[in-house]
Amino acid sequence: MKARVRARANIALIKYWGKADDRLNIPAVGSISVTLDRLWSDTEVEFSDELSGDEFLLGGTSRPDQLARASNTLDLVRELAGVTLPARVSSENNFPTGAGLASSASGFAALSAAATRALGLELTERELSVLARRGSGSAARSIFGGFVEMHAGSAVDGSDSYAEPLLDAAAWPLVVVIAITGRGEKPVGSRSGMAASAATSPYYSAWVETSAADLALGRSAILAKDFAALARVAEHSCLKMHAAAMANQPPLLYWNPATVACLQACAALQAAGTPVFFTIDAGPQVKAVCTPDVVPTVVTALRGVPGVIDVIESGLGPGLEAL
Ligand code: DP6
Repeated sequence: MKARVRARANIALIKYWGKADDRLNIPAVGSISVTLDRLWSDTEVEFSDELSGDEFLLGGTSRPDQLARASNTLDLVRELAGVTLPARVSSENNFPTGAGLASSASGFAALSAAATRALGLELTERELSVLARRGSGSAARSIFGGFVEMHAGSAVDGSDSYAEPLLDAAAWPLVVVIAITGRGEKPVGSRSGMAASAATSPYYSAWVETSAADLALGRSAILAKDFAALARVAEHSCLKMHAAAMANQPPLLYWNPATVACLQACAALQAAGTPVFFTIDAGPQVKAVCTPDVVPTVVTALRGVPGVIDVIESGLGPGLEAL
């Protein structure tokens, strides 16, 4: 009753921000992401009657603060399998947790897959995506590799709110260069940030209303491998999400001075004809997406930005892997 699974982090190019249903964790908008090869969570789940309750360890350290969310996913899996056994979850990220590098995406994707496998359940990838979504919306996308689209769906039970592959990683091998501009866990997580946008940001309704158009543009740009079109809509989706969050009350600004300097560095590269665009999640890191031929140029430019602590580069990677 034990299984270990690797799931990779993903970066949204068309962002998810806001929920249609908090309890079932149904997103208010669809999203499109790329799965990263170099950043992952390895998660082992073991169900055992020798445990007195669920346990959650991250990097070998017990994390009671994260136990409730992990137990919610375990409860869903126990319900599916018809068992009541407690489980020990042991997860490791090969990248900094909680700094805007989407650890909840890889973490809940790996947890959902490892827990179902440990109990011998054979879910389809779509069913796994729905299950992972209950833990974290972005996790629904980390089930798959390459370019992935998450559908918001319209069913009240969330059954049509799942991700599916859009294009293989090998079909368009873009590279993501991540500029780390701040360490440490962010003060406001994406979950509470998006709830606050829905409740207080005057721009939230416009964000939701314009999302379908962005998704259509993003999807067709990816299928046509049209870099310039993808760059335009991805930067627009990112800045629109952050504009909605900045207009929260109280305001929510995830950026620091180096974040802005990285955006300006990307703009300068674009002006010089370099195929690159930026995106930013709920944290201060800047993810620059580019074609493989310009990676050294982009890495050098971002390393030279004052305040950039480190630069990580990653190609696009596969979906779930059993370990
Ligand atoms: C800014 O998936 O972390 O990274 O569903 O509440 O767990 P929950 O939210 P989460 O939100 C991710 C928000 C984002 C954009 C994105 O990944 O699409």
